[in-house]
Amino acid sequence: MTAMHGPFDMPATLASRSRRWLVTGSAGFIGSHLLETLLRAGQQVVSLDNFATGHRSNLEEVRQAVGDEAWSRHTFIEGDIVDPRTCQEACRGVELVLHQAALGSVPRSIEDPLRTHAVNATGFLNMLVAARDQGAARFVFAASSSTYGDHPGLPKVEGVIGNPLSPYAVTKYLDELYASVFTRTYGMQTMGLRYFNVFGTRQDPNGAYAAVIPNWAQKISRGEVCLINGDGETTRDFCYIANVVQANLRAALFPAEGPAHEIFNVAYGEQTSLNQLHGLLGENLKALNPELVLLPPTYRDFRKGDVRHSLADISKARDMLGYAPTHSVRQGLREAMPWYLAQASHACA
Ligand SMILES: NC(=O)c1ccc[n+]([C@@H]2O[C@H](COP(=O)([O-])OP(=O)(O)OC[C@H]3O[C@@H](n4cnc5c(N)ncnc54)[C@H](O)[C@@H]3O)[C@@H](O)[C@H]2O)c1
Repeated sequence: MTAMHGPFDMPATLASRSRRWLVTGSAGFIGSHLLETLLRAGQQVVSLDNFATGHRSNLEEVRQAVGDEAWSRHTFIEGDIVDPRTCQEACRGVELVLHQAALGSVPRSIEDPLRTHAVNATGFLNMLVAARDQGAARFVFAASSSTYGDHPGLPKVEGVIGNPLSPYAVTKYLDELYASVFTRTYGMQTMGLRYFNVFGTRQDPNGAYAAVIPNWAQKISRGEVCLINGDGETTRDFCYIANVVQANLRAALFPAEGPAHEIFNVAYGEQTSLNQLHGLLGENLKALNPELVLLPPTYRDFRKGDVRHSLADISKARDMLGYAPTHSVRQGLREAMPWYLAQASHACA
């Protein structure tokens, strides 16, 4: 690994020229934010999604946010990463890949491990092969904090992991292994970003596998009771989307030569319990709508496959990429709150 260490001027590097990027999973939560940021920054973007969990409305929101000129620099491919030809087509002429497409959710993977494996493992391998064949300069991908599994150590440091607790976690770890082997055997540059509970606008509040923040924001805004798995003292290192976008751009653009493979934690670096989160959401939503009646949560059994505590050590990303998260949980919630409220009122209308 011959990466140069220390911070670099990411915004200047991004602005220095227009590159061709591929964002997979662009109709989803994280992918749509990457697409939006890249288009705003004058970049050319190919993006790929099959709408398995993503929405056309997310792409439409991006189109409206960036305007016609920026949108004209975007080419969308509707397709499935399980099909190798689609991946080859998407990677053609692409310099930098931000691979986000996957089936998220631990419970989904427990219910349907085959489908999760097909997309997250086989689809991932298809993307790596395509990026190699088409000569992409760097492959940045969404890894996951679930890879820490049952290891009790806190904060989580990249080099120390436990046993996976779900099929989802197995696939995400497998992705890291494949990426490291592609670096060794084909000389590729691969960068895995272990996201810790990301939240922000365009994260789907609906469905059985919804993430906790959009799901609770919707319930609280409608005056419904939230369900907490366990005693509410489970903790997570919730990370606002702006921090995740920054980490992706830094991982894609930081100076590194020759074969390079790195894994980085992407989080804020602070623990929040579910009870605290529930209180914060109520507080923020009530500030926007004083008539809201806040109800206490209902507690039920712990959920299978969930880890008890999660907290990231983000010093590796800070030292190598110059990653400096701009939003705490409170700041992120405050910024996203009007969107949550609007979503809840649309859904009720
Ligand atoms: N949100 C989090 O907290 C979090 C945490 C850790 C890791 N991740 C990872 O980040 C990535 C993005 O997650 P997200 O939260 O934006 O989820 P999301 O469901 O909103 O986005 C995933 C996108 O991938 C698309 N997709 C799924 N299967 C596909 C396929 N076979 N072919 C093409 N497109 C496909 C979906 O339609 C969706 O638009 C995923 O890889 C996920 O595992 C997310």
